Amino acid sequence: MKKLKIIRTIKEMVAWSNQNKSQNKIGFVPTMGYLHEGHLSLVRTAKENSDLVVVSIFVNPTQFGANEDLSTYPRDFERDISLLENLEVDVVFFPNNQEMYPTGYKTWVVTDEITSILCGKSRPTHFKGVTTIVSKLINIVNPESMFMGTKDFQQLTVLKQMVQDLNFRTKIIGCPIVRENDGLAMSSRNKYLNEIERKNALCLSESIKSAQKMIKNGEKSPNKIIESVKKIITKKSGKIDYVEILDERTLKFTDSIDEHSRLFLAVYIGKTRLIDNANLNV
Ligand code: PAF
Repeated sequence: MKKLKIIRTIKEMVAWSNQNKSQNKIGFVPTMGYLHEGHLSLVRTAKENSDLVVVSIFVNPTQFGANEDLSTYPRDFERDISLLENLEVDVVFFPNNQEMYPTGYKTWVVTDEITSILCGKSRPTHFKGVTTIVSKLINIVNPESMFMGTKDFQQLTVLKQMVQDLNFRTKIIGCPIVRENDGLAMSSRNKYLNEIERKNALCLSESIKSAQKMIKNGEKSPNKIIESVKKIITKKSGKIDYVEILDERTLKFTDSIDEHSRLFLAVYIGKTRLIDNANLNV
């Protein structure tokens, strides 16, 4: 088996990248650890499309709001490493907070408009943390391509906008959502769900399927679909943060359903906030 290198400092990560960049395509998967099959599928795609693969594990404090789950966010470094070793990843970049945000840190990367809707409404500082840390990670790892999941569709859109606006050379590759057999989108936060909540959490994927069926049957009104989705969620005790249908290219509202219509959901199941999304025309 290939030897996995664990790098903890920016200096060493930059040196490794400088040494390998000219001869190899570097693929990069940024994560916050507690890896699941969704992350592993990103790693596999990165491997298929790159010569060398770097995975970062960093629970980024600046993307958590004051009352969010930073302190309880699940972590299991040993397990993550053994999963990545099995996939023959080349490097795990595992910096600590002081390395990424040293005392006196002052600089932020902010993307406008598309960060104040959907998740940005209830998590107003979240995307500023994401764009900042991902800018730093791209500069440190200097990858050819970065692989990210579509479950965080808004995050993917924001980062594509940032890369375009700030002329980063790294390409962002969006990869499909990976689901449990019963349809629940994989997420590290699924760990928070108890047995009953785990069953109720199916209301997200079930309401997506039902919306897709309505459209197949000819429904064209976003409002009617949204109302029906809300009913399915509240019936399973889900507390709605948002249910929206937007044009997936612009994240703007649409009057009528077309091939670009995407349903976006954020729902509290108990105390756990889950998100999901899907194009409605399948
Ligand atoms: O999607 C995530 O896990 C995080 O938001 C990311 C992209 C690793 C930045 O911390």
